[in-house]
This record gives sequence, C-alpha cells and structure tokens, in this order.
Amino acid sequence: MVRIPEATVDDIRQNTDIVDVVSQYLQLRKSGQNHFAHCPFHEDNTPSFSVNDQKQIFYCFSCGRGGNVFNFLREIEGLTYPEAIIKTAELTNYPLDQSMVAQVMNQPHYEDSTTGKLYAMNTLAKSFYHHILMNTPLGKPALDYLLNRGLTKETLEEFELGFSPPQRNALFLYLKSQKDTDFEMEHYQNSGLFSQNDQPETQEFLDRFSNRIMFPIHNERGNAIGFSGRIFEEKKDSFPTAKYLNTPETSLFNKSSIIYNFDKAKSAIRRENEAMLFEGYMDVISAWQAGVKNGIASMGTSLTEDQIKRLDRFTDQVVLAFDGDDAGSEAIQRSAHYLTENTHFNVEVVTFPSGLDPDDYIQKHGANEFKEFLTHGRDTYMGFLMQYYRRDRNLANETEQIEYIDNILQELTKVDSLVEREIYLSQLADEFHVSLDTLKTQFETVMSESQARQLDELKQQQRSMRNEVPTVQVSHENKQKFTLVEQAERMLLNRLFYYEEAWLLLNKIDPAFEFVSEDYQLIYILFESYRETDFENTDTEGFLDYLQEDHLKKKVAEIFLIDLGDLVETEIKDYIHVINNVSPVKEAISQKTEALKEAQRAGNTSEQAALAIEIINLNKKLKNEITE
Ligand code: CTP
Ligand code: MN
Repeated sequence: MVRIPEATVDDIRQNTDIVDVVSQYLQLRKSGQNHFAHCPFHEDNTPSFSVNDQKQIFYCFSCGRGGNVFNFLREIEGLTYPEAIIKTAELTNYPLDQSMVAQVMNQPHYEDSTTGKLYAMNTLAKSFYHHILMNTPLGKPALDYLLNRGLTKETLEEFELGFSPPQRNALFLYLKSQKDTDFEMEHYQNSGLFSQNDQPETQEFLDRFSNRIMFPIHNERGNAIGFSGRIFEEKKDSFPTAKYLNTPETSLFNKSSIIYNFDKAKSAIRRENEAMLFEGYMDVISAWQAGVKNGIASMGTSLTEDQIKRLDRFTDQVVLAFDGDDAGSEAIQRSAHYLTENTHFNVEVVTFPSGLDPDDYIQKHGANEFKEFLTHGRDTYMGFLMQYYRRDRNLANETEQIEYIDNILQELTKVDSLVEREIYLSQLADEFHVSLDTLKTQFETVMSESQARQLDELKQQQRSMRNEVPTVQVSHENKQKFTLVEQAERMLLNRLFYYEEAWLLLNKIDPAFEFVSEDYQLIYILFESYRETDFENTDTEGFLDYLQEDHLKKKVAEIFLIDLGDLVETEIKDYIHVINNVSPVKEAISQKTEALKEAQRAGNTSEQAALAIEIINLNKKLKNEITE
C-alpha cells in the first residue's frame, strides 16, 4: 500500500480554506461565524448546511453529515479518502510528488473484497472485449462497421469499445485463466457478466453477452461497472432480441443512478456550466469526436432523481439534444417537463430534424455544422412546446386552433419572465390574427384559474399534513434535543477539544472520570490518544482524519461547532458534576420504578410503600442536583 505521508496530509489541510473549496460547489451565504447553503446531499428546503471558517469544517443540521474538507470532497465527488486528499491539493495548487500521486491512484482500492473482485472482473472483461474488437479477426467485421460509421480508432480507444465473440464461454475461460486473481463462484454469479449454466454443479458459466458491440459503462470515478451490448449481425434463424442488452442490476451497476460518460464529461460540464443530454451512447461518442466534451446520456430512460442530484453538483443548465421524431419529442417533453417542474435546472432544447439523431446528423452534415446547430439551433422549453403542441393538429381548423392557444396559455403560466411571456403572446397574436390585448386578457383568466388551483392544492396538502403524525424535524432553528447529561457531555468534550486547561481541570477534579454515553467515552479516549501521538501538532480538526467510524466523525463535527465562548473556570466542574451525579440518580430512579411495578404485580404492599418513598427522595435529589 502506498500512502500519502501524514505530515503531507496535515500540510495540505492547513494550506486549504474549506470555504473556498465548498464555494466551488455551492453558493454560500455568510451569517455570523458560519456560511450557509442548501445541503447538497439531500432535499433541503431551508439552508441547513453550514461551513465554519474558524474550525474549517462543514456540518448539516438536517442530515447530520459533517467533517473537514476531505470528508466534503469524498461525499460530493464520490472519492476515496486518498483521492480526496489529492483533489484538495489540486484545487489549492499544493505541489505534490506526481509519482506518488500516480501510485496512490493506481492501487486497487479493495483488492480482496467482493466489491474489489467485481471491479476487477469488469475491468478485465472490458480489456478482453476491447482487444477482440481492435486486434482480432473475430472482431474485424464489428471494427469495420464502427469505422464505417465514422468513428476513428482513437475514439474507439478513448471509449474502450469492444466486441463480445459469438462463443458463449469466451469471457468465462479468459477470466478463469487469470493468474493474478482468483475469482470464485459467487463473483461469477454476482458480476452480471454471466448466466448460470443448466448444470450448476459443473461450476461453468455462460457469457451473458455474445456477438455484440460492447459499450463499457463506468461510474463517476471511471471504474468499469458494467456494459451495454449493441446487437450486431443478428443471425437469421435466431429469435429477435433487444437492440441493447445491459448488465442486470448488480451491487456495482445500478441503472437508475448511472450517467453514461459522466466520468469523462464532468470537468467540461463544470467548465461550460452546461450538460448536453443525449439519448444514446453513439450520440455521446460521436459528439465527443466532434469536439463536444460535455455530452452524457442516461441508460435509455428518463432522468431519475438520483441522476439529477449528481448533475446538480456540476451545473444548473441542461440541454436536451434529441431526435425530432415522435419518440424523441415525447422524450424531450417528458424530461423537460420533469426538470422544469421539479428542479431549478434551466432547460434548453435542441430538436434535430426528424429521423436524424445527433449521431446521424454528424454523419450527414459534419462536426462543424453539428456544433453550429447545438449553439444556434437551441430553443427555450417554451419555444419547444410551441412546436410540440402543433403535432397531430390541423391548425386551419378553428376548434383545434383554440385548443392549441389554450395549451400554450396554460404553459405560459409557468414562465416567470415577463419578456418571454410577451414574446410568445405576440407570436400567437401574429399567427392567429388575434389582438394582443385579447390574448393578454385571456391569459390573465387562465393565470388566475391556475393560481386558484395551486392554492387549493396547497390547502389540501396542509390539511393532510396536519393529520399526519408529526415527524421530528431537525433544522438549524430546531436543533436536536439532548438530555441534560448528554448536553453536559457534549460541552465538556468541546472544551477538551479546544482547551488544554480543561484537561488539567478534569484530571484534578476527577482523575477516574468516565463519560456515561459509550460513544462519547470512546471519542474521549481516542482524542486523548490522538493528542499523545501528535503532541506538538495540536491541530484539533485533524482528529476527524484520525477517526475511522463515520458515525463518530459526525458526532465530533457536531461538537466542534458548539459555540461556548471563552472558557469559564467553574464550567468544567459543573459538567463533571452533572455527568457523575445526575445520571446515576436517574438510573436509580428507573430501577426503583421497575421494582415498584414488580411489587405491585406481586401484591407486596409494604415493599411498595418503601419503594415509593425512595423514589420521592431520589426525585428531590435529582432536582437539587440540577439546580445546584
Ligand atoms: N436503448 C436501450 N435498449 C434498447 C434500445 C435503446 O437501452 N432496446 C437505449 C440505449 O441507451 C440507446 C438509446 O436507448 O443508446 C437510444 O436508442 P437508439 O436511438 O435506438 O440507438 P442509438 O444509440 O442511436 O444506436 P444506433 O445509432 O447504433 O442505432
Ligand atoms: Mn443512432
């Protein structure tokens, strides 16, 4: 294992301002010590996500995620820990030894875990298929076909396209012959690359893909996780099968969250602040070859919420670039409608001439005209709808005209820009020879109807919400409730994190002190050993990197953020007092209460009376201790 030296990690962290890094992903608003934003990790209606300048950490009051700059990059970019450190160094221009970077990045992450094996299998399969396509007679017809379609060899290399041979056990034998890696039954079964043979006892598997052009699919980090295989020269006597066959759902391959080519496109998407969404892999690849590097595609379905969240971290503008045929227009309408109603993405549409998908368009008109069309052939979503509602309508017919105008006015109620509205109303007025004033009056009516409908819906929602069992909402204003003891424990830890003096006081007052909560006790012990191993480096926030457990990290980040002002001398004594005394008293009360119930069941009256008196006294004691 190659590791980045601890000292370098510390140095990188100290050289970085978390606010700068987070600002590259989110719009932060400063308020007091903290900067706030909507949390990028979940649906967040109020800005619950905070970044603390001084402590150099982030924390979401709503979902509880928190940590330092490395943890942030891990979550938001889906990176491993060493990758996050290297990314931070890149973002802050910290000079890193490039040969070390290469070594760290190239080592297999989980060599021996099942996940590691599945990644390894997919990567091996990818190079196997790729080799067959590029260098063997078996792959020659498919290679010729792809070259004929205008793809260059460099492009085939870049996207690592491949070919699965017709023999149904080629990949299986290849993987079995691997000397460096042992794959077991379960790996073959769970990889999605095989189907089980009729006789499972033979431990033989059949390749899932055969005689197909293979498009490897990568996750956001560029690891191969599965394939989509395009049919190639279907045999006459066999059953017709789907044009594309995908890896089934596996632990790596989750169709609804995959964005094709996202690994390669994301930097261009951020740079250009725009993602170009195509329908097919071939469109993405041809567009790339034509110089359009921000192209992505979903896996032949509409965008899912999960995919939208991934995109959201990189841009707020999506361009839908689909074929203008019926299926394409329907797909645009579905996706654009969803995006405009449910997200803040700005959506634009490029409709290609019917029957030409972007790839066909490039074949026919060349790269330059294609790029021209992407820039100048775009329309707003509303502009697209003006065309969309015309389909299957005869606008010479008055009834159909009126229906059409009504459709458009309805859609216009969703357009916020006054200028945009005015433009479309004028277009309607011109085309159908209606006065602009009449149209505007009509629009006002439609608008107020739509507002009334929305108001109704809102009321309905509120009514049903009132009937629901209230759920605990943890937000910035409405923080988590802690018991008195827990509060004291958290405050004490906060002091121990930041004040040497707190340690001296604690040792003086109660050398045998222990926290009540197991987690806090563990944090306490770990922090103590962290201080010892790293004595001259009293960088408190570095403790987050030292911790292994995510749930402990969250708690610690939360405690870092408690703002207690300057340390007051008596404070530590008070915390210790509450933790040592309140909690045992409470413990005793609940034990006695149980015993009382038992005595009641058994009908033991004298014991009942004795226990009742004890409980009353304990309660008094508890009250005194809290207010003392
Ligand atoms: N698709 C799929 N399953 C199918 C057909 C299509 O998953 N049976 C998805 C694929 O993601 C494909 C996209 O829908 O890339 C678009 O399909 P289509 O336009 O039919 O294919 P192209 O990508 O244009 O492929 P080609 O140009 O080679 O025909
Ligand atoms: Mn096509």
